[in-house]
Amino acid sequence: MNTQRSLQQGVSLNGHRGSEKLGVLIVGLNGAVSTTYIAGLLSMRKVQATPVGSLAELGALPFVGSNGSATTLPVRQALPLANLDSIEFGGWDIRDESLLDATRYADVLQEKDITPVAEELNMLRPVPGVFNKEYVRNLEGEYLKRGDTKFELMEQIREDIRRFKVTHDVDRVVVIWCASTEVYLETSEAHENITAFEEGMRNNDPSIAPSMLYAWAAILENTPFLNGAPNLTVDTPAIVDLATKHNVVIAGKDFKTGQTMLKTVLAPMLKARMLGLTGWFSSNILGNRDGEVLDDPGSFKTKETSKLSVLDYILDTEKNPELYGDIHHTVRIYYYPPRGDNKEGWDNIDLFGWMGYPMQIKVNFLCRDSILAAPVVHDLVLFADLAQRAGLGGVQEWLGFYFKSPMATGGHKPEHDLFAQRDALHAKLREIMQKLSVISTVEVETEA
Ligand SMILES: NC(=O)c1ccc[n+]([C@@H]2O[C@H](COP(=O)([O-])OP(=O)(O)OC[C@H]3O[C@@H](n4cnc5c(N)ncnc54)[C@H](O)[C@@H]3O)[C@@H](O)[C@H]2O)c1
Repeated sequence: MNTQRSLQQGVSLNGHRGSEKLGVLIVGLNGAVSTTYIAGLLSMRKVQATPVGSLAELGALPFVGSNGSATTLPVRQALPLANLDSIEFGGWDIRDESLLDATRYADVLQEKDITPVAEELNMLRPVPGVFNKEYVRNLEGEYLKRGDTKFELMEQIREDIRRFKVTHDVDRVVVIWCASTEVYLETSEAHENITAFEEGMRNNDPSIAPSMLYAWAAILENTPFLNGAPNLTVDTPAIVDLATKHNVVIAGKDFKTGQTMLKTVLAPMLKARMLGLTGWFSSNILGNRDGEVLDDPGSFKTKETSKLSVLDYILDTEKNPELYGDIHHTVRIYYYPPRGDNKEGWDNIDLFGWMGYPMQIKVNFLCRDSILAAPVVHDLVLFADLAQRAGLGGVQEWLGFYFKSPMATGGHKPEHDLFAQRDALHAKLREIMQKLSVISTVEVETEA
């Protein structure tokens, strides 16, 4: 029974227990995704809401036991994930309002779901963010940090992280970007290495966006950084080098939730059955602030690039030109206020079969953007914290399960197939589990 108790309390990992406090600092704290995630987590704590969509909370980890038989174990039982009660929230935004007001503004959750956690939400407020309208043209920043150089602003973010740790008596923190999508940027000279990036921050190099300053600051504070938007952010040689040098977890980019999640399930089906494809037209309407930001061509280009990359990789177009050599792939997002967060997506897929005969698939997904994204945020936070405690620094490719444009290193192609990604995630979790020798202790307990 001692084994069981130690698992529930969180197995020691790098001197930390899952039961010790974890700080979750969110960039874009007052946004729709952040507030939906936080209100949901508070509800899990207070009124035992079911964490639907979270693999960390409801998933099971498959593995082969020592007697050679296949078995599974609930993820939370298998691994010393941070306790829900131990999580402290904080973060940055460019609007100064309580999370209660921000949750109501987002208009994702009904009042009946907000009321039980209203008091807790009302106590949360962001600190001022680092923002520049040049990088998100459809937003006005009202609540901002001031500084002459990007380097100074980055140092102020570091100071925020340190202050949060002291005031909340927290020694581990994860930072996650749930803020607006920045304009499209490509890697430039300032992103080439650590020295060039530091110089770029001091010279206010325009290729260094605010999201990169948050990431740089987090890494220097030995804090994992996750990127939920399609911005370049941590996907540059300089930031990858910094994270590797400091052995800090980074992962990105762009939460995989609605239309792209479906695409990465349907496209592998076509490939598995060697069915051809001539076109895939995806469009959707969205009426929340994210939709308004994406209405700007600069931010839309960042999102479009992220969404378009998926098919080429999955179908491996060069290997089967007769099936996939001439695909028309189009992605459109329309800002349509009446729908708010309740995005509607349409996919028209033109495929062909035996003797080249054409067929069509139509998908109409009436989804809820933030409802799909919130459990993704939750899992990413828990797994990034776990990985950091297990000593896994640098780019975490296995977290690609949660991203539209998964980062890949060493010249590897990123994996997009949802189920292949899930297998990679399981494999890494098993590796961490084995590192902790939890499998044997669990088996002893299960058999006892
Ligand atoms: N919901 C989904 O399914 C989904 C999927 C993939 C990616 N995303 C991305 O997640 C992000 C958040 O989406 P959302 O619907 O919550 O958007 P939102 O507009 O509701 O929230 C974004 C928040 O970020 C704040 N912000 C903007 N720039 C900032 C900065 N530099 N520093 C601090 N705060 C800043 C805004 O004030 C706002 O409160 C977007 O980039 C979106 O593209 C969402």
